[in-house]
Amino acid sequence: MYTVKTDKLRPGQILAEQVRDVNGRLLLASGNEIQPNHIRIFKIWGISEVNVAGADRQKENDKSELDPDLVEQVRGSLMILCRHLDLEHPALKELFEQAVKFRCRNEPVEAERNLHAAEPEPQEPPPKQNFLDQLHKKKIILPEIPSIVSELNEVIANPLSSAEHIAEVVNRSPSLTALLLKIVNSSFYSFPSKIGKVSHAVSLIGTREFTGLAQGISIISIFNNIPKEIIDMFSFLKHSFACGIFSRILAAHLNSSQTEQLFVSGLLHDLGRLILYIHFPKESCIILTRSRNRSKLLYREEQDYLGCSHAEVGQQLMKQWKLPVILENNVCYHHKPSAAQQVVPASIVHLADLIVNMLGIGSSGEKLIPPLEHTAWEALKLPPSSFEKLIGQATHQFKALETILRV
Ligand SMILES: [Fe+2]
Ligand SMILES: [Fe+2]
Repeated sequence: MYTVKTDKLRPGQILAEQVRDVNGRLLLASGNEIQPNHIRIFKIWGISEVNVAGADRQKENDKSELDPDLVEQVRGSLMILCRHLDLEHPALKELFEQAVKFRCRNEPVEAERNLHAAEPEPQEPPPKQNFLDQLHKKKIILPEIPSIVSELNEVIANPLSSAEHIAEVVNRSPSLTALLLKIVNSSFYSFPSKIGKVSHAVSLIGTREFTGLAQGISIISIFNNIPKEIIDMFSFLKHSFACGIFSRILAAHLNSSQTEQLFVSGLLHDLGRLILYIHFPKESCIILTRSRNRSKLLYREEQDYLGCSHAEVGQQLMKQWKLPVILENNVCYHHKPSAAQQVVPASIVHLADLIVNMLGIGSSGEKLIPPLEHTAWEALKLPPSSFEKLIGQATHQFKALETILRV
């Protein structure tokens, strides 16, 4: 089985995996011979690629083109980053191999540099008070909810609201409108014709889904003044969007109806880190330095130093902003999905975060690869062989990322 772009499909090829539209409706079942009208339908529904039966000769050629020295070098450095992972686990074994190929085919990954460069460690004692309690106190002001987020909450709560009402709210912010239109016209959705109006985008993507997307984008956009010495925001956004993309792909693959909500969960999963970077820069620098010097996972260092991790800080913010409970669930438990009320969606974000870290797409400050919770893996019931296809699908969308993030 291999993936073919819809433009390159030929009648007579056999569909190896079912094709669904953006709303999850079945367009063609697996095993069918592809006819010219199927290709036309795929294009109308914005299906950019499908999986067909057989061996991909082009890919076989690509494999043999990988430089063996580079493969060994990448394998060695990735192994160091995977020190907290059980690479004997069948899923991680397969993911590791796919990540080596991905890294070899893409630019060298930033996260591998400076891993061993020990930095002077400030000898500051950890905060005495319970950190989450401190967040409630007046002196620590959490960012104000962007007005668009609360207005969209009101619109979506009204059963009489239409696509026009949502568009009216979004159109008040020209920058948000421009970014959203850029996203819906990119290969994230691959709609066959250009979408010029927000109301059109809402009717195509769905009211709830589009609202979630608009809220997620406006939330992440308010964090734009973090000093570069603490975190490279471009890299942070790349990691966040990539996790959103992968969560959405996993959700669609598992036939979940919450694809856009999972995209937003992935996009906002490390939001708590931004709060720490902005409001606690001194503590953040200590945590970042200690985790690098000791090769310890960043979220564990946060837990040890602050008594809570960025996942709980993110949850506080979502509570304060009255965002859907499912977002709180997915953000709070993305490092420990088995403890979540809804294990499957939290496990999707958990796995997406692991994959994106393994592939080395951006970073939220973490240099090492976070471990896989075995319960989460079992909850998803994914065969390890699906990684190749899923990473292939995501690669197509990652390419649109750079362009979108530079808006
Ligand atoms: Fe995280
Ligand atoms: Fe992350």
